[in-house]
Amino acid sequence: MTLTGLENENLKLIIFGGKGGVGKTSCAIATALALSENFKTLVISTDPAHSISDCLEQEVGFNVVKVNGTSKLSAIEVVADEALSKFVSVHQAALKKLLETATSLDNDDIDDMLSLSIPGIDEIMSFKTIVDFIEEGEYDKYVVDTAPTGHALRLISSPKLLDAWIKVAAKMRWKYRYMITSFAGSYTQDEVDAFLLGLKKTVKRIENLLRDDAKCEFIPVCIPELMAISETSRLLTDLSKSEIIPKQIIVNNVMISEESDFCKRRKTNQLPYLQSISETFSNLNKVEVPMFPEEIKGINALNELKSFLFESELIYKHIK
Ligand SMILES: Nc1ncnc2c1ncn2[C@@H]1O[C@H](COP(=O)(O)OP(=O)(O)O)[C@@H](O)[C@H]1O
Ligand SMILES: [Mg+2]
Repeated sequence: MTLTGLENENLKLIIFGGKGGVGKTSCAIATALALSENFKTLVISTDPAHSISDCLEQEVGFNVVKVNGTSKLSAIEVVADEALSKFVSVHQAALKKLLETATSLDNDDIDDMLSLSIPGIDEIMSFKTIVDFIEEGEYDKYVVDTAPTGHALRLISSPKLLDAWIKVAAKMRWKYRYMITSFAGSYTQDEVDAFLLGLKKTVKRIENLLRDDAKCEFIPVCIPELMAISETSRLLTDLSKSEIIPKQIIVNNVMISEESDFCKRRKTNQLPYLQSISETFSNLNKVEVPMFPEEIKGINALNELKSFLFESELIYKHIK
């Protein structure tokens, strides 16, 4: 099988996830390369390890760069800390006022609080950065390469975290508003209310996008090894809680060659796991990618990987 449906005009966001080292970054970039033949594509990494740069052999940072040797592919590595500080600096005034009106902290305490990293907030800001890109609409396709499983899940559940935070903040505001109304008789909305409303809208937009399977697709990447299969199963269960149901799975590192005794043994060793993948993920379209003799680095190797993902049919010939 090959990856299908990614060229659908409506499909904007494609997210790759899975255990560490299974080939997420390689597959995300190869997919983005394929899509960029017909669509203006942006590949986004949220992995703090700068793996896109390594894989493309080109420096990519927290600014969009054109990928060398392509005409319609760009890349960016979203750095969570930087995304967060950008957010804090843009909304500094509203955040400060929110804290001032809702707590008995003094100015120094508030400054300290604003410089602290709130758990989970970096994922939220990473996802917000992605959604902002999508809403700017400069690209046709956005391909997201995530850090290992736990991180992908935090990214997916970030709207829930942010929503919980907004609820607490709104409650504090409600008390403040009540106080002002009792003193002054009336209350006019200020920038803090506008800020919270804006955040609430962001959460809704992220949730709507993630749940819309015409617009967003999550592609798990797995390898024929026990731990990777278990982790992928858990990932799928957790994704389903957020109403995200993948349609296809990439099975990477499949040993095809029988050239040496080593290859033969490796191949035999993989057979039960391939069988297990077939059974465990029976409802998913399986896209097999062979184990390459060399690591996947640079455009040529990525193009080769691309052909396995989109052109070649590696039939499940081991299992019958
Ligand atoms: N099919 C493959 N054959 C050989 N090496 C591969 C294959 N897929 C990935 N790799 C290599 O395995 C390592 C991990 O791949 P990567 O895409 O970075 O995984 P992840 O993003 O899931 O951590 C990289 O060195 C990559 O070049
Ligand atoms: Mg990676």
